Amino acid sequence: MGGRDFLSYRPRIEYQGKTAFGRNDPILKRVNQGWGLGMSNESNKNKPVPMLDVGRGNLPLKQAFLDAIERVVDSGRFLHGPEVTELEKTVAEVCGTRHAIGCASGSDALLLALMALDIEPGDEIIVPSFTFFATASAVSRLGAEPIFVDIDPMTYNMDPECLEESITARTKAIIPVHLFGQCAAMDRIHEIASAHGLPVIEDAAQAIGAAWDDRPAGSWGQIGCLSFYPTKNLGGMGDGGMLVCNDDAIAAKLRLLASHGMQPRYYHKLVGINSRLDTLQAAILNVKIPHLEDYANARRANAARYKELFQASQLHEIVELPKKQPKATHVWNQYGIRVPHGRRDSLKAHLQNQGIGCEVYYPVPLHMQECFSDLGYSLGCLPHTETAAREILHLPVYPELTAGEQEAVVEAIESFYMTGAYRRVA
Ligand SMILES: Cc1ncc(COP(=O)(O)O)c(C=O)c1O
Repeated sequence: MGGRDFLSYRPRIEYQGKTAFGRNDPILKRVNQGWGLGMSNESNKNKPVPMLDVGRGNLPLKQAFLDAIERVVDSGRFLHGPEVTELEKTVAEVCGTRHAIGCASGSDALLLALMALDIEPGDEIIVPSFTFFATASAVSRLGAEPIFVDIDPMTYNMDPECLEESITARTKAIIPVHLFGQCAAMDRIHEIASAHGLPVIEDAAQAIGAAWDDRPAGSWGQIGCLSFYPTKNLGGMGDGGMLVCNDDAIAAKLRLLASHGMQPRYYHKLVGINSRLDTLQAAILNVKIPHLEDYANARRANAARYKELFQASQLHEIVELPKKQPKATHVWNQYGIRVPHGRRDSLKAHLQNQGIGCEVYYPVPLHMQECFSDLGYSLGCLPHTETAAREILHLPVYPELTAGEQEAVVEAIESFYMTGAYRRVA
């Protein structure tokens, strides 16, 4: 793991009370050889690079958005409008499922999925700890217990073998998360779940359009959960979510649960929640969804360009680049590098000082969150998760990012190592 473990193998030389670096130190070598990508042009310098710029993506579609909004305004059907049905149909096609059911957010999708499976207090649901909070909070909100498992350090996704070890008589479901746009190892997870007769809920909030072994994210499990939060690959102009599934009975139950369990009007079969995808939001997403594959391709091209830039500067020997698994169709919702040797936070500060947007997803694993302290986890329980939370740093990768901006990002990382800023451990 890790880029080359350079700080631990380099010979240390003490000189006038200060630690200098041996001749074989790769950083020093690069400096002596004339560090630099050699492609930098003045136009990259001092220009801020935002972590995300939703305005750039939306600008070319502005008139189409306004037309779509106008149609909804004129129709007055702000809820349950035909735009919602249209989006549900398209998302079902993208995910290769029979059904898609709109709801208010990805968080609600997870909650509704668990409700549809009748999860109740005392049940255990296996989830990764390295994920956004909503994956586990949905479990807790039903009084069930999230059982946190470790990740595969290469992919950051749930390690299927850790999953298998955590199954007990109380386990009622498994929620793998397709983190950063790459699917978890769904063939193996599916195999384990089937062997134990357990349903799988896929948290595909970050992975619409992704696939594992050519089977789309959301179509592997009993239920798939999607988010249209603005940072997602299909981002709306506010909150929104969707559930996908193949089973007719589960689909009907999800729809019922999302509308107060009400059928017909004012007659309640189940205690559900109110969770609807607004017609306006669906109308906006209908404008964007035909471009989903183009967005994913642009993200892929950006990830490939980062790889070239990091390799050209030999920084890939120092920081670890994200890896795509052979079976994964990756949609690169995020591009995370690993910064070893306790230097992640000082690199983040350095980049931010230079106007380079970067983020840490996620700095505190869920098993170490205050609200889950009563579950009895402690530091060291999930070592790969904890290391990832300490080392990962996300760089801009959105579709409209320019090549010049990517060069600026990599040059700023180079300057961190070149100026010696990296020696100051945060
Ligand atoms: C992995 C994951 N699960 C669930 C969610 C929740 O989605 P939403 O923000 O739409 O509620 C998110 C979004 O942030 C997420 O990244």
